[in-house]
Amino acid sequence: MVLVLGGMWIGQNINLLPIDASVNAPIYDELFQVLFTIGTILFIGIIGLLVFSLVRFRRRPGQLGDGIAIEGNLPLEIFWTAVPAVVVLFVGLYSYDIYDRMGGMVPLAHDHSAGMAEQRIWGGISSGTVESGIVDALPIDVTAMQFAFLFHYPDGDITAGELHVPAGRPVTLRLEAKDVIHAFWVPEFRLKQDVIPGQPTQLSFTPTRPGRYPIVCAELCGPYHGGMRSTVVVDEPEAWDTWFSGNAKPDPTSETASTNT
Ligand code: CUA
Repeated sequence: MVLVLGGMWIGQNINLLPIDASVNAPIYDELFQVLFTIGTILFIGIIGLLVFSLVRFRRRPGQLGDGIAIEGNLPLEIFWTAVPAVVVLFVGLYSYDIYDRMGGMVPLAHDHSAGMAEQRIWGGISSGTVESGIVDALPIDVTAMQFAFLFHYPDGDITAGELHVPAGRPVTLRLEAKDVIHAFWVPEFRLKQDVIPGQPTQLSFTPTRPGRYPIVCAELCGPYHGGMRSTVVVDEPEAWDTWFSGNAKPDPTSETASTNT
């Protein structure tokens, strides 16, 4: 009882994660708390038993014989098979539920209606996620290459080396790699998505907390993989509007219209 209650207290009260900056983050943190609780109970239980056994069953002076020969213990074996089976099954089902609540089971949609050719999306998290239904998601194309991320906003024809997003508005990234497999990871958003050459993936999220957070490449992609980092800047909506209008190419619609004729 002490072990379970202590493990639960530690799991609930010790937070090893960075600040949460997206709608997905608190959902993920629930799972992490549960996993951390289970891990703490197992760790303390096993190490405790080990230390206890080392002391309690140590060789005493004058003890020279072999230990008792024990062969098999059916109830014990059933017990230590059943407990991990139940725990692993529970963690599997619960992880599925968390991924579902993050929008991972929503059919992948082509959010880039702005002139984007029909192209298969191979995986990721679709918009129409956490808050039900697609709402005015901001489309951004992400290109990963050795060793940088490039961000392109089809709406304003902006290309940037940093990702600027407004707080409170859903964003849909369409990710594709130029050369090898990379992974787009923002720890503060609790989101990570592989970026694959020739197989576009998608990642939808809603940032919640203004600030600057690291974007990390999380797939070994070459000698400078460790240096493949960028920054996501979550702005207040007004500040983002200013940034966007300050960088957008003037009147992109008339430009496409003239090239079409
Ligand atoms: Cu790109 Cu590691």
